[in-house]
Amino acid sequence: MHRSELQNAESGAGPRRLAERFRATRALTEALVAPLSDADASIQSMEDASPAKWHLAHTTWFWETFLLREHAPGYRLHDERWPFLFNSYYEAEGARIARAARGMLSRPTLAEVLAWRGQVTEAMEPLLADPALSDLIALGIAHEEQHIELLLTDIKHALFQNPLGPAMWEREAPPAAAQVDAPGWHTHPGGIARVGHQAEGFAFDNEGPRHRVLLEPFALADRLVTNGEWADFIADGGYADARLWLADGWGWVQQNAIAAPLYWREDGAHFTHRGWQARDPHAPVTHISHFEADAFATWAGARLPTEFEWEAIARGQDGATSAPAHDPAGGNQLGGAAPPLPAGSAGLFGDCWQFTRSAYLPYPGFRVAEGAVGEYNGKFMSGQVVLRGASCATVRGHSRPSYRNFFYPHQRWQFTGLRLAKDA
Ligand SMILES: [Fe+2]
Repeated sequence: MHRSELQNAESGAGPRRLAERFRATRALTEALVAPLSDADASIQSMEDASPAKWHLAHTTWFWETFLLREHAPGYRLHDERWPFLFNSYYEAEGARIARAARGMLSRPTLAEVLAWRGQVTEAMEPLLADPALSDLIALGIAHEEQHIELLLTDIKHALFQNPLGPAMWEREAPPAAAQVDAPGWHTHPGGIARVGHQAEGFAFDNEGPRHRVLLEPFALADRLVTNGEWADFIADGGYADARLWLADGWGWVQQNAIAAPLYWREDGAHFTHRGWQARDPHAPVTHISHFEADAFATWAGARLPTEFEWEAIARGQDGATSAPAHDPAGGNQLGGAAPPLPAGSAGLFGDCWQFTRSAYLPYPGFRVAEGAVGEYNGKFMSGQVVLRGASCATVRGHSRPSYRNFFYPHQRWQFTGLRLAKDA
């Protein structure tokens, strides 16, 4: 893998800032697992989710494989057998255990994985100051930040399986969200918009090339849909009315007897990192699938935005008013080892990833990079939908206006939510 294979350089940040971010990211991953036992950290609740211990190890495998093995003179792998355990999906890096079998790894122990992490973090120190490696290091940090979010959503799903409803953090619930009014609207007159990542700063390859799109006049809600509004949708028979649903969505509802968001209980509680808690009707609804988001939007007489409409508003191309851009590091995002929970915040970023109606496809001119890093995004551009923004479990500073998250339309264990759009 070579530097030139990365689409975008970490041009804005100096090596010292990069080194600080590297250390902070490694430390945050470890701080998040501090409340977990070895058993908590080793179980796998479904194929989509990985054990917390596996995330700790896989992110370490990434640094060992792409940085230390390639660029640290004389570096020897901590254990020659471990790449088979902790490679995720990189075909170029060889065979690996089945994804669904990650929960079978009772060994190495959590303590052994944490010790390996410490060694790899330390071995990285001399490389952090090398400007020739800054692009790869920026990629490795962004990669570990993505796994921090997955670690949080995966352990939530695992703890939810336990009838005792264990809390990851025994903390008091946050204050209730403020009463919300009917949403206001960001309006856009339509026209040619420029979307995609610009040259400055790190971005994943799937965010470019920057290009033009044609928008018709539209409006985007200035807040997310809430738990209370979702309860109205349920009370109105939303899950039982085939007319509201995409055909694939209706089949999914029927087949899986879906009648509420994931983690909802009929008594008004939902499962959180603090265990079972009362739902706040004014907080944004979360853990919904694309199918559910689409059905709700139809029920509400609206629709989901396209990813380009969303980006145009996020960039501040807010019609004739040229409103200021929304702060990608603003809103309710992860700032440390604390339980993430949507709370309702202003701006386009934070609380929940927001479904769009856009298929996850390559932009005009997109080319898959050569080498293992080329397997990062491009090969997943089939059958998935784009989500925009950032969630309460996204490391603050990770997202951008051009950031494209993507999941299959039935998946809902991430902090997913929706913001309505409509034709003007
Ligand atoms: Fe990964």
